[in-house]
Amino acid sequence: MYKIVKAEKLADMIYLMDVKAERVARHCQPGQFVIVKIDEIGERVPLTICDYDREAGTVTIVFQIVGASTERMSRLQEGDSFKDFVGPLGVASEFVTEDLEELKKKKILFVAGGVGAAPVYPQVKWLHEHGVEADVIVGSKTKDMLLLEDEMKAVAGNYYPCTDDGSYGHSGMVTTKIEQLVSEEGKKYDVCVAIGPMIMMKFVCLLTKKLDLPTVVSMNPIMVDGTGMCGACRLHVGDEIKFACVDGPEFDGHLVNFDESMERQTLYKTAEGRAWLKEKE
Ligand code: FES
Repeated sequence: MYKIVKAEKLADMIYLMDVKAERVARHCQPGQFVIVKIDEIGERVPLTICDYDREAGTVTIVFQIVGASTERMSRLQEGDSFKDFVGPLGVASEFVTEDLEELKKKKILFVAGGVGAAPVYPQVKWLHEHGVEADVIVGSKTKDMLLLEDEMKAVAGNYYPCTDDGSYGHSGMVTTKIEQLVSEEGKKYDVCVAIGPMIMMKFVCLLTKKLDLPTVVSMNPIMVDGTGMCGACRLHVGDEIKFACVDGPEFDGHLVNFDESMERQTLYKTAEGRAWLKEKE
């Protein structure tokens, strides 16, 4: 059993938990994910790691209520436990294995949308701890929905909050902020990392393609069981077929077929859709 040592509601329908999982905490890297399960009957829920404390042996997860299992998870309190907490899974972010001196020369822009701030945070923190200051744009519907602001400010080079309703920071979409920074303020970036809802990642990639800015995206949103078995996370990256949970979750955003992935994501939400996909394959 994996004990919850901290449980906090971050925003409407969004929760943070620190879970005692020493082996995962010892080995995990930014970009990787875990699969959690409340009990025997609970669904497997894949979640990108938000933070880890190797000394305390804890791993931080952030999740949004999107169905029955995450709703049950949201009711867990400090002192309760998960039956399973499997990981670290998936491939770590590319920069973890890059030559540090080369990495230090790079200007990196992170773009997070909604709960995407959670997987972006450990990447920016890792870079900060290794002497690389990255800029971070975080978008949310309203100020109240903006996640991990203090944590992000502490590790980001420049921090740019954006809200759809204009209640805080830049008023509008993250894409208009990218355009403002690059086209109007003349900021130059070597790579962009975009993590958030599929539709946001799609439009960030359409823009960064025009700006000739290589972009990495995380396809965590299309995962279902996270084991390479269910087929839900199958996607086209250029001409190749990949599985987000095994080959990713991060891929070259300019090669990802977002429309196909969004269609699969919708179909996998219903039993009918899952049956239909199985027939097609
Ligand atoms: Fe099921 Fe990847 S999530 S195969």
